[in-house]
Amino acid sequence: MRTIEWKDGIVVSIDQSALPEKEIWLEMKSCAEVAAAIRDMKIRGAPLIGVAAAYALALTAHYSEAKTKEAFLEEIERSADMLRKTRPTAVNLFWAIERILNKVKGAAGDVEALRKLVIDEAQRIADEDAEVNRKIGEYGSKLIEDGDTVLTHCNAGRLATVEYGTALAIVRAAREEGKRIKVIATETRPKLQGSRLTVYELMRDGIPVTLITDNMVGYVMFKGMVDKVIVGADRVVRDAVINKIGTYTIAVLAHEHSIPFYVAAPLSTFDLKAFARDVVIEERSPEEVTCIGAVRIAPPNVNVLNPAFDITPIKYVDAIICEIGVLDKRQFEKLCECKGDV
Ligand code: MRU
Repeated sequence: MRTIEWKDGIVVSIDQSALPEKEIWLEMKSCAEVAAAIRDMKIRGAPLIGVAAAYALALTAHYSEAKTKEAFLEEIERSADMLRKTRPTAVNLFWAIERILNKVKGAAGDVEALRKLVIDEAQRIADEDAEVNRKIGEYGSKLIEDGDTVLTHCNAGRLATVEYGTALAIVRAAREEGKRIKVIATETRPKLQGSRLTVYELMRDGIPVTLITDNMVGYVMFKGMVDKVIVGADRVVRDAVINKIGTYTIAVLAHEHSIPFYVAAPLSTFDLKAFARDVVIEERSPEEVTCIGAVRIAPPNVNVLNPAFDITPIKYVDAIICEIGVLDKRQFEKLCECKGDV
């Protein structure tokens, strides 16, 4: 089963906030329900957020009672606005919304034709995500040697995408080719996507994984236990990769230990008109830092800083793996120069 699916007017997606204790499948019938699931991180991970936003617009289209094209487009615009306010950093969200709006705004036909257009485009976005992840796996696995231990951060796996994953797609593809790969997963404070999600999905697939806390990365690298780092991304800009908080620290440590640091991300995560300074880094609630689960671990009223994403300068990234291949620094620069609007 895919992480998210359209089932004739219902969007079905696994509730990632309940994992690994409970496997709950959300059944959503309105854009507002999907928007809430994204905001509450029941649906999370850049590519999945994009697909969810597309399906949310499909729900608006499916249930619209608009009689005129203008009224229909207004409803879609209102839903798009609601979705844009859910989370600011992952560009896939905005990319998917704009792709659907562009398609439907310029289209000819009556309300029925537009309704179909939105739903079909949302489905196409979901199917493409699945295809693109297979390609990322295919290209990325060439970088992996038999016996490698790959360190990953956060969850850039099946759960963060429609299926297969981005960073974990490479691990999966290498395993499918018969390479004996092990993974070290950081727990990823404060929301614990590593311990709750990455470990869960790798163990289910029988892929050997060892869990560490975020502050053990230096130790495992010093001990020679890491051959490669592969992480995902929420936004790739001209001068940096924006990914889960903690990524920058890992990249600098990898550089110090001469360990290749790779980023796996689809082109829908590229925002090549922007620089790091243009990106809104999501700040989340202090309770995520002052508590672990329901247990408070800090004094009340302490000042807290809780940025959800890190900015890793491009100089620390050895290559970016996307659906068109493995881009080294020079190729990435070229892409920035000639395709500022990928
Ligand atoms: O806050 P999250 O869990 O949505 O953050 C997700 C990440 O940082 C992932 O690494 C990124 O979205 C890539 S997922 C393929």
